Amino acid sequence: MIEFRNVSKNFGEQNVLDKLNLVVEEGKITAIMGPSGAGKSVTLKLLMGLLKPDEGQIFVHGSDICALADDELASLRKKFGMLFQDAALFDYMNVFENVSFPLYEHTKLSDEEIEKRVEASLNEVGLENVNQKLPNELSGGMRKRVGLARAIILEPPIVLFDEPTTGLDPIITSQIGDLILETHAKRNNTFLMISHDLALSYRVAHKIAMLYKGQIVEFASPKELKYSTHPFVREYLQAQLNLEGSR
Ligand SMILES: Nc1ncnc2c1ncn2[C@@H]1O[C@H](COP(=O)(O)OP(=O)(O)OP(=O)(O)O)[C@@H](O)[C@H]1O
Ligand SMILES: [Mg+2]
Repeated sequence: MIEFRNVSKNFGEQNVLDKLNLVVEEGKITAIMGPSGAGKSVTLKLLMGLLKPDEGQIFVHGSDICALADDELASLRKKFGMLFQDAALFDYMNVFENVSFPLYEHTKLSDEEIEKRVEASLNEVGLENVNQKLPNELSGGMRKRVGLARAIILEPPIVLFDEPTTGLDPIITSQIGDLILETHAKRNNTFLMISHDLALSYRVAHKIAMLYKGQIVEFASPKELKYSTHPFVREYLQAQLNLEGSR
């Protein structure tokens, strides 16, 4: 359903992705993990057509998105819901305006129907009485929730999450984990999530892809990942164990 085939991406002299291959299964939750600066966010931006690869192909539902014209790309983007690393809410719009934005942009629903959908969607992410608040009047966890409500409001078949829990306390982190699982169980859409949070990935992901030096060096279920023989993966898992051990 989503396939990266030999995808390379450079910024000037810097080679970020180096013939990366990855197949994301339909209807599953896939997590991409890897060191900071490895190119995880770049990978999602390539998938949404916000960046172009220097080499290789990216297939979404059978079409190579790199070969699409601008209008085709725009309609492809409707298949994606995206929760950006910083939630990327419009600062000057209140919560209602942020969450309703995709509905006004892409549907012909009446104001009344839009209000209902926004309310249902905010309820789904556990928010109430926040319609009039501006993003800077919300906590980090609330902003992520609003971002998630906006990402799923068009019921897209593919939802992309960039660091859904970074910077949040353990309780909110666990609630976001619940939300991801609940939202997925309702619609069985395809989730692709980037996270540094191994506990979250173990809990929600069907498959974990490890990005290291521009390539996916391991692609395994959480259970299988523990038996990885790749030196970087071993180091990454050991570092995590050390952190947990020091608690
Ligand atoms: N638009 C851009 N122009 C130039 N360099 C960029 C651009 N976007 C990303 N990079 C570089 O590509 C590399 C990968 O960036 P990316 O944001 O994908 O990292 P990441 O894996 O998401 O890291 P983190 O875990 O810290 O979010 C970085 O070295 C970054 O500086
Ligand atoms: Mg990133």
